[in-house]
This record gives sequence, structure tokens and C-alpha cells, in this order.
Amino acid sequence: MEKTITVTVNGTAYTRTVPLRLLLVDFIRDECGLTGTHIGCTYEGRCGACTVQIEGRAHKSCMKLAVQADGKEITTIEGLGSRDNLHRLQQAFSRYHALQCGFCTSGILMNAVDFLNENINPSEAEVRRALVGNLCRCTGYSHIVEAILAASATRHGLKPVPPPAETEPPP
Ligand code: FES
Ligand code: FES
Repeated sequence: MEKTITVTVNGTAYTRTVPLRLLLVDFIRDECGLTGTHIGCTYEGRCGACTVQIEGRAHKSCMKLAVQADGKEITTIEGLGSRDNLHRLQQAFSRYHALQCGFCTSGILMNAVDFLNENINPSEAEVRRALVGNLCRCTGYSHIVEAILAASATRHGLKPVPPPAETEPPP
């Protein structure tokens, strides 16, 4: 069975006739052509790479059907910032070296933006708890946590957490 739905993604309305069982992550990637939303655990809901915002709240898009997003506003990583105007959290990720391969990054950013909207001045423990649904195989999380704390501090006019010290080049 199919249904015609209209989903607004990053401000653009996409009207498509889709199978009832189509997952939202596949709608975003295949119907909207927005491949910044990743699939890491093949639809098991464990990795968080597919996280987007639905009506401003973070959701794993492999755990939702596309038809459940009918009439809703979705934000993906492509709608968070632009190359010339990065979101403050993207700036912090760059400054604090919070990514390596980057596969997890879009999902973590979409989750963390929602988290920061709800948590004005989070502790490190709260940030780590918020990341429990996002797996990163590369970074060890420390720089991700520092970047999120720094973005929070910047947002509220506080002194940002200082960036990691530059590594001295070998003699
Ligand atoms: Fe959705 Fe892993 S692909 S949680
Ligand atoms: Fe590679 Fe997170 S930066 S998985």
C-alpha cells in the first residue's frame, strides 16, 4: 500500500507517494537526496547516525516511518548551517577537533543542538548522558563533549572552554 505525503525538509516541501513501510531515513536520503543523514547500524536504532530533528526535537529517523512525518517539519544536517555560515556547534566541532571520519557527526550534531536548546548550561556528565544514543568509533568522545560544552558557553555569553593545546611538531 502507498500513501501520498508532504514532508517539509529544511524549509522545502517534498510531496511523494511512498510505501507505508518506507522509513523516514530512506525518504530523506532517496526521495529528498539529502545524504548527510547517515545509516550506521542498518536500521536497528543503536548508532544514532540517522538522527534528524522532527518539529525541533531529535529523533532517529530509522525508527520512524516516512508517513509518520506527513505534514511535519524536518531539519537535517544540511539545514543546520551552511559552508559560509556554520552553526555555532559546527564551529565548535571544528575548533575542538571533535570529528575524525565524520560518519557519526551529523547525527551527533542534530542530537546535541536539541540537547542544548533544552539545557542552558549542562554539566559534562549531562552532555555524556545525552550522547548515549550516538556511537562514535573514532574520537573517544572527549573532544565531542568539550565542543558541546564550549558551544553552550558561547551561546550564553560565558567564557568558552579553552580549546585543546596544539600538539608540538616533532623536533
Ligand atoms: Fe538509525 Fe543507526 S541507522 S540508529
Ligand atoms: Fe568517526 Fe565518529 S568521527 S565514527
